[in-house]
Amino acid sequence: MRVFVTGATGFIGSAVVRELLGAGHEVVGLARSDTAAEAVTAAGAAVHRGSLADPDGLAAAAKDADGVAHLAFDHSFTDHAGASAADLRVVEAIGAALEGTGKPFVVSSPLMVAPGRVAAEDDPALATAGRAPAENAALALAQRGVRAVALRLAASVHGRGDHGFVPRLIEIAREKGVAAVVGDGDQRWPAVHRFDAARLYRLALESAPAGARLHAVAEEGIPLSAIADVIARHLDVPRTSLSPREAGDHFGWIAPFQTFDVRASHARTTALLDWHPEEKGLLDDLEEGHYFATGGDR
Ligand SMILES: NC(=O)c1ccc[n+]([C@@H]2O[C@H](COP(=O)([O-])OP(=O)(O)OC[C@H]3O[C@@H](n4cnc5c(N)ncnc54)[C@H](OP(=O)(O)O)[C@@H]3O)[C@@H](O)[C@H]2O)c1
Repeated sequence: MRVFVTGATGFIGSAVVRELLGAGHEVVGLARSDTAAEAVTAAGAAVHRGSLADPDGLAAAAKDADGVAHLAFDHSFTDHAGASAADLRVVEAIGAALEGTGKPFVVSSPLMVAPGRVAAEDDPALATAGRAPAENAALALAQRGVRAVALRLAASVHGRGDHGFVPRLIEIAREKGVAAVVGDGDQRWPAVHRFDAARLYRLALESAPAGARLHAVAEEGIPLSAIADVIARHLDVPRTSLSPREAGDHFGWIAPFQTFDVRASHARTTALLDWHPEEKGLLDDLEEGHYFATGGDR
């Protein structure tokens, strides 16, 4: 299959490219700069030059492919609403280009469902989540002849090169000299290794049914206190507890993620696609030490 991958240079997208090429698929990776184009070429994929700001160009690339994995997202967090709206426009444009073809279209979504209980694949996205409209637009394409799939990623997708929430927690602990949690730190985050997630993208492209919601979740929910314990030990700083009021100052933009308690199951994903996570868990990955390296190979 010739797969158009947006976000091909990203932390997860580059693993998806590797996974697809390793399984004998052809890949065309989106690149918005010369640096990105070089990275896509070095990975062994063809390049489509374009940007999230040009949905029509992405739609044309989608038409030329047998399937699409959409992972590009602007993570600058300066304008999350704007980034989510741009994401929705891209999903709609690619979806329109694939209408009636039966081609697979795998759309990435953050796992923001059912706080306070174990979320299952058939739980709808939280109406208040900024990216819910893009997920819902993707799933609606199943009625329009697209094998559209929403692939929901655990809050922590980990592995070498991670630049998400856990590295930010480590940076904050370094800056402030404490590894903090809010309250008892019994809020939980699901996690998955990026290589396991990448395998799920491949399986989804190959055989997920139209309208499926998939959970790229290897670990249902890891207490933030356990993550803080590892950080405190590796950085040799004390572990401390903050009130919700203190959390904003301490954690900045990441503060809301310290108070959510999200657990999620992958039972239906596994039953549907025989996907079994094989990589190490988040805490074991942290114990390896690469997350704490400074300037070296993270
Ligand atoms: N990492 C996680 O822990 C995590 C957790 C939950 C959900 N997710 C979701 O999973 C997906 C992939 O995440 P990731 O961690 O791999 O992201 P990432 O490492 O931040 O990579 C983002 C990708 O999007 C591309 N991109 C950003 N803005 C673009 C634009 N305007 N035009 C074209 N390309 C653009 C980047 O290209 P450049 O190389 O040119 O910058 C890069 O390839 C995203 O939808 C993300 O929200 C990730």
